[in-house]
Amino acid sequence: MEIIKKSKRMVSTSELLKSKGEKIGLVPTMGYLHKGHISLIKRARAECSKVFVSIFVNPIQFGPKDDFARYPRNFKRDCSFSEKAGADYIFFPSTDEMYEKDFKTFVEVQDLGNVMCGRARPGHFRGVCTVVLKLFNIIRPNIAYFGQKDYQQLVIIRKMTKDLNVPVEIAECPTVREEDGLAVSSRNKYLSSDERKNAVVLFQSLKLAEELIINGQKNLEIVRKAALEKLESNPFVSKIDYFDFRDKDMLYEIERIDQKAARILIASAIWIGETRLIDNILLENNF
Ligand code: PAJ
Repeated sequence: MEIIKKSKRMVSTSELLKSKGEKIGLVPTMGYLHKGHISLIKRARAECSKVFVSIFVNPIQFGPKDDFARYPRNFKRDCSFSEKAGADYIFFPSTDEMYEKDFKTFVEVQDLGNVMCGRARPGHFRGVCTVVLKLFNIIRPNIAYFGQKDYQQLVIIRKMTKDLNVPVEIAECPTVREEDGLAVSSRNKYLSSDERKNAVVLFQSLKLAEELIINGQKNLEIVRKAALEKLESNPFVSKIDYFDFRDKDMLYEIERIDQKAARILIASAIWIGETRLIDNILLENNF
């Protein structure tokens, strides 16, 4: 496995591989790899002839109150995990390499970036889109792999690539969970053992909403109320950013279950103590 730090070298490596007919798969990450990231790398390995993992903690997607400085990092461990999962190259640029002093261009997907996590974290998706488009231009993958865990991010990146005619296929990968159902995340590491035990309430509240809908409840305000009650009754939940029912492609709010809502996204963001967690489930409207 080769580690590349410079964009220029990355572009020439990628172009050479593509001229030889290689199919390039990219897994963009911010490092501190876990089972979720590994599942994406393995899927890329199965579908592509060359697999790239990018590791870059992107400062411009963190707000002033976010956890950029304390975001966990462990490059050595990431390299060994990536190699074991089948990566051929790691792209590991410095912040200066990605953002020169006079950097002035940003990519923004309107509307989709202002709801849900975008409302709680202004500018976050602008930072994500900007770095992901840069990574696409530098690594030039045929397929890029993203997790359903960050579902809004996935929808926004798909829209960006469509709107800007970026020649890359976006692959959607299922959320990997711990045994109790908690979605695996780099941020779970911040949780104390009591917080960790209680963090599963997020997944449980989503499952409760799903169950109520499957059992026939069509009024989603009632479903939301039940889910919020479950979250609010847990003493470790310090704040609820949102608990939403949305169209899975356009992310507009759904208030009632009807024939039009083909697949519903149930998504929530909560705080356990000082740690912000997100999760979601997709519901097929065939009940
Ligand atoms: P990061 O949080 O490191 O996640 C990298 C990729 O792993 C994302 O596509 C994310 O959805 C996926 N992922 C994380 N946890 C997962 C889980 N439990 N199951 C399945 N997939 C999971 O998302 C980012 O980094 C950044 O915003 C990035 C796209 C790299 C841009 O900076």
